[in-house]
Amino acid sequence: MTNHRFRSEPGHARHDASFGGYRRPVRVASFAAAFALFALFLAWHASDDDEASPTDELPLSRAQAQSASRVPPASSISPASPATMQTAASDATGAPNPNAGSNAALAAAPRDDANSTDLVKRGEYLARAGDCMACHTADNSRPFAGGLPMSTPFGTIYTPNITPDPDTGIGRWSDAQFVRAMQEGIGKSGEHLYPAFPYTEYTRVAGRDLLAIRAYLNTLAPIRYAPPRNDLSFPFNQRWLMVFWNLFNFREGRFVPDPKMSPQWNRGAYLVEGLAHCEECHTPRNFMQGLKTSERFSGEVQAGWHAFNITPDKAGGIGNWSDDDLVRYLAKGAVAGRANAAGPMADVVENSTQYLSDPDLRAIGVYLRSLPPVAGGATRARDQWGKPADDVTRLRGTAIAGVNGAQLFLANCATCHAWTGRGIGADKPLAYPSLIHNSAVGALDAGNLAMVILHGVSRKTKDADVMMPAFASELNDDEVAALANYVTRQFGDPRATLTAADVAKLRVRQP
Ligand code: HEC
Ligand code: HEC
Ligand code: HEC
Repeated sequence: MTNHRFRSEPGHARHDASFGGYRRPVRVASFAAAFALFALFLAWHASDDDEASPTDELPLSRAQAQSASRVPPASSISPASPATMQTAASDATGAPNPNAGSNAALAAAPRDDANSTDLVKRGEYLARAGDCMACHTADNSRPFAGGLPMSTPFGTIYTPNITPDPDTGIGRWSDAQFVRAMQEGIGKSGEHLYPAFPYTEYTRVAGRDLLAIRAYLNTLAPIRYAPPRNDLSFPFNQRWLMVFWNLFNFREGRFVPDPKMSPQWNRGAYLVEGLAHCEECHTPRNFMQGLKTSERFSGEVQAGWHAFNITPDKAGGIGNWSDDDLVRYLAKGAVAGRANAAGPMADVVENSTQYLSDPDLRAIGVYLRSLPPVAGGATRARDQWGKPADDVTRLRGTAIAGVNGAQLFLANCATCHAWTGRGIGADKPLAYPSLIHNSAVGALDAGNLAMVILHGVSRKTKDADVMMPAFASELNDDEVAALANYVTRQFGDPRATLTAADVAKLRVRQP
């Protein structure tokens, strides 16, 4: 039930890198194929280079020119509005810039934002939407200075410093170099960046929005800090090999609004497919760790955490959630009777989605609802399982015989979640949630439940500082397995079972 492609390093990365995972025969075959394609690639690239980018960018540039020239009334945001954030009122005062968003025009593009504070504010909002903080901050006293280790099957990549420090950060980067890194995955000196950096998603973001992010990053305190050097084994320390990875797994190009869809849908698509990079966790990966575009958003396990199927299927996905449920989940991290955000999703809520405006969160919902539903074999929704325990005397048992899940539950969990499993405090912000109708407990894979027991929950938002203690040091692998099996049998999907060996693998994962 766990994904073994990621080697976890205890005490390290919160985000595990999104590439790699070759198994030996596949690796050999793919490298052979890759080298054979090299010549072909060069020829193709040479002929394609000239027109590829402009065609990708034109529709959006035009769209941006429109949106820059007026503030669309909230009710009739033009399909162009993906590039217009909520705070884009400032754009109205600027002259239309037909080239905004086009790389070629970056150097010369006049800064048409009348007020640079608004530009910086917009950049901050967008940087949050892109969750730059999650990967580029290893230590909260050094925000954006990088150094977070991201473990991959070939070694460790450390995120770079993106503060404006001239020597250790990106202070000396031109705007054009910054935009190229984000849209093409190319570093300052022309080197290929690793796709652990989600340029595969950021490529869809308009140049205009990236420049706002840059403007915001420029206002940060420069921090002099050089992250450790990457520790990758040969041949993965050869950056140029990413040419092949990109060939198979990366399509460069800006988001193009779909005129057949509503402005709200386009807005949601622009966010989800671009800055918010939801797919990086929620879409299954191929053997090269590229995204399987045929199974988008149908769920994937990374570093022990199952980022669930969020397609609109009523059984497999989140098709039975209301729009309000989704907005609430992304804004607060908890929806009573459905789901709570723990692990990497708690980080997403904490650093990113809680800051998005209500219209943007709704737009994300509209877009997710339009995806092809994937049932994935599920017949009942994750949040529709379980019944309250009804016999506390049976739970207590008479004698302690071996490892007993029910007794462990009573001893460790019942103070907060109640012996019935119904929780305490219902849907109040600091409630101890019900374990009945909870997606982590009702999932067919008990991995997230075990991760929650081992590593607890920690999620700070504007309205609540949510905390469930970690039990890793109190309970051994047998006990966690017995406890999880009791919890799924009673409150969730009884088919979800774990062995002590499964728990041992999850124990070394990062919370
Ligand atoms: C999922 C993790 C992740 C997220 C989210 C992320 N980055 Fe990065 N970023 C990385 C990694 C890893 C690298 C280094 C890649 C390499 O060494 O090839 C990187 C490299 C970069 C670079 C190149 C820096 C250099 O010195 O080469 C820039 C610029 C950058 N990121 C900006 C951003 C911005 C802006 C955001 C938010 C919109 C962001 N990143 C979000 C992981 C991330
Ligand atoms: C860093 C990885 C990561 C990213 C990025 C991410 N998610 Fe998640 N998501 C997860 C994980 C892991 C869970 C399961 C959390 C749990 O069980 O507590 C989850 C759970 C969810 C759920 C609840 C599903 C359920 O049935 O419980 C929703 C809805 C969701 N994510 C939406 C999104 C959206 C929308 C985005 C983009 C804005 C996003 N996620 C980005 C990892 C991620
Ligand atoms: C001190 C109180 C406390 C104890 C003890 C406690 N929990 Fe929790 N639990 C919480 C809180 C708080 C949350 C998060 C609520 C939220 O997300 O808003 C939570 C969340 C959960 C979730 C939902 C996670 C998700 O991703 O959806 C599960 C499952 C869970 N606890 C199981 C357990 C089990 C099993 C035990 C016993 C080993 C236990 N809890 C012990 C307070 C507690």
